[in-house]
Amino acid sequence: MQPATQSATADKVKALEWRGGVLRLLDQRQLPAREEYIDCADADQVATAIRDMVVRGAPAIGIAAAYGVALAARRVGQSEDWAQALKADLELLENARPTAVNLSWALKLMRDRLARLSAHADVPARLLEAAQSIHQSDHEANLTMGKLGMELIRKHQKTPQNLLTHCNAGALATGGYGTALGVIRAAHAAGLVDKVFIDETRPWLQGSRLTAWELERDGIEASINVDSAAGHLMKTQTITWVIVGADRIAANGDVVNKIGTYSLSILAMHHGLRFMVVAPSSTIDMALEHGDEVVIEERGAAELLQLGGQSLDVGVPVFNPVFDVTPADLIDAIVTEKGVIERPDARKLADLMSHRHLH
Ligand code: MRU
Repeated sequence: MQPATQSATADKVKALEWRGGVLRLLDQRQLPAREEYIDCADADQVATAIRDMVVRGAPAIGIAAAYGVALAARRVGQSEDWAQALKADLELLENARPTAVNLSWALKLMRDRLARLSAHADVPARLLEAAQSIHQSDHEANLTMGKLGMELIRKHQKTPQNLLTHCNAGALATGGYGTALGVIRAAHAAGLVDKVFIDETRPWLQGSRLTAWELERDGIEASINVDSAAGHLMKTQTITWVIVGADRIAANGDVVNKIGTYSLSILAMHHGLRFMVVAPSSTIDMALEHGDEVVIEERGAAELLQLGGQSLDVGVPVFNPVFDVTPADLIDAIVTEKGVIERPDARKLADLMSHRHLH
């Protein structure tokens, strides 16, 4: 199958890049004001960058962690017992953030690669190749999902339409092109997008700072709204699809994604909009029976208690869960690089995951 065509702008946005023996990360905390880069030379620096959200988005943190292992191996240089030599760094990376499964998925691939290497192998070189392959495959998966998602939109309506997205599931959150934003890019290229409504995505503002930045650079018409405007927009703006990414998809099709996604799915159901989740198969966790078993990350109070440089702290405690769980029965379609599942359930997920790549 032919994947979606690349977007010139999305190709230029590189959340991560292997360059001159270090992992270069675009510091997403500074966007859109500044395009600054941070070079990571060891696993500790990569873990810190993931935890502090220099790099964020489920696929991107998995890729960063894989490069983190490669960096750790370069620092070790030579070893009789590589598994032992890398153990502490692997654990450090694994614990950087709890919710997105792509992190442990990528680290498992790196461990498996290490376990298969012969005694005389150039371990640092082979692990770097493995990290680069994870990076490259994610980019390719996004192009495939872009095409599949676009075709799904076209199947229901062939004219330009309004879409709504939440958080940032774009080139910044992935190995390139994006998952939800990849579908939006492909749909726009196919003449299917009139306008994209972007939830600002409190409190970290992935929507207004990152998604808006990406869409503006791509020349895709968009506007930013406060998250709590979503219901009003669905009632008044003839939106056809809500399109989001995912941090973890349970075996029964429940989707863990940025806080606010669950509310959107209920609003979409009430207003008769379709709800699409776009995620590579690396986001599907068949070991997680239901979404409610997932560990939901809680971040610090500071994310809520600062606005425009002003403190909002009056001494009331903050509760800041940054992901939520959308039940499978509120989801119309899950788009992966292996194929599309409509009305997801446990049987369809198991079927999809037992297939080899179809493209
Ligand atoms: O806290 P973040 O910014 O890492 O959360 C990101 C999301 O929730 C995304 O929707 C998800 O990771 C998919 S990114 C392709």
